[in-house]
Amino acid sequence: MTRPVVVSIGGSVLAGEDMSSKLIRAYADTLDEHCPQPLGLVVGGGASARKYIRVARELGLDEAGLDHLGIQITRANAWLLLSAFGARAFPRPAADFEEAALALRSFDRVCMGGTHPGHTTDAVGAMLAERVHAERLVIVTNVDGVYTSDPNKDPDAERVEQLTPDELLKIVGGARQAGSSGVVDPLAAQLLGRSHLPAAVVGGSDALNVARAINGEDFVGTRVEE
Ligand code: UTP
Repeated sequence: MTRPVVVSIGGSVLAGEDMSSKLIRAYADTLDEHCPQPLGLVVGGGASARKYIRVARELGLDEAGLDHLGIQITRANAWLLLSAFGARAFPRPAADFEEAALALRSFDRVCMGGTHPGHTTDAVGAMLAERVHAERLVIVTNVDGVYTSDPNKDPDAERVEQLTPDELLKIVGGARQAGSSGVVDPLAAQLLGRSHLPAAVVGGSDALNVARAINGEDFVGTRVEE
């Protein structure tokens, strides 16, 4: 049986300020055209999640409550992506890893959002990848790989072609608040360290480049491997 690939797609890629059916459909079509293997797709919260979390924080909601709110939005975004895959996809966001693993036996597109407070969908992607013995994890984000420091703040930041999970963890740092964003969730980096699962971090603007990373071909971005 072909092993699935797990793809963690940042909400900023599919559901940013300029969210549209055209963009989501084009993404799904590119993956369908180039990626025949089963895909577990974990979708992030994007601009809407950040907006909801900001307003609820101002209203006094605690961090765990804000995380739950973010999870609702990631699941809403998972509904959008599975709609674009049509009958090929499990017809609702998988509720947990067990449901996703079972669904991947019958459907080659299984979408889900967040699961529990305290981390982001990158970590969910790393956990799902462990659970389904994925061939690799591809983290799709709004920068074209992992940089030595934040490229928006540091003009000397350089993209790293390849690093180990430990080196990734050193770059992405420690715990975060609800709704905060960094290139990769530190928990995802930790999980990659224990699972020895190869991973890739790619920008989301070129769906074809994402498809190449999914297929294990050459891509622009960062490889995370022991
Ligand atoms: P995201 O996974 O979208 O966060 O979850 P992100 O990586 O910061 O944003 P993008 O998508 O790459 O732009 C949004 C928020 O939902 C909560 C967290 O508060 C997170 O910041 N969340 C999500 C959880 O608490 N648990 C989950 O499993 C997923």
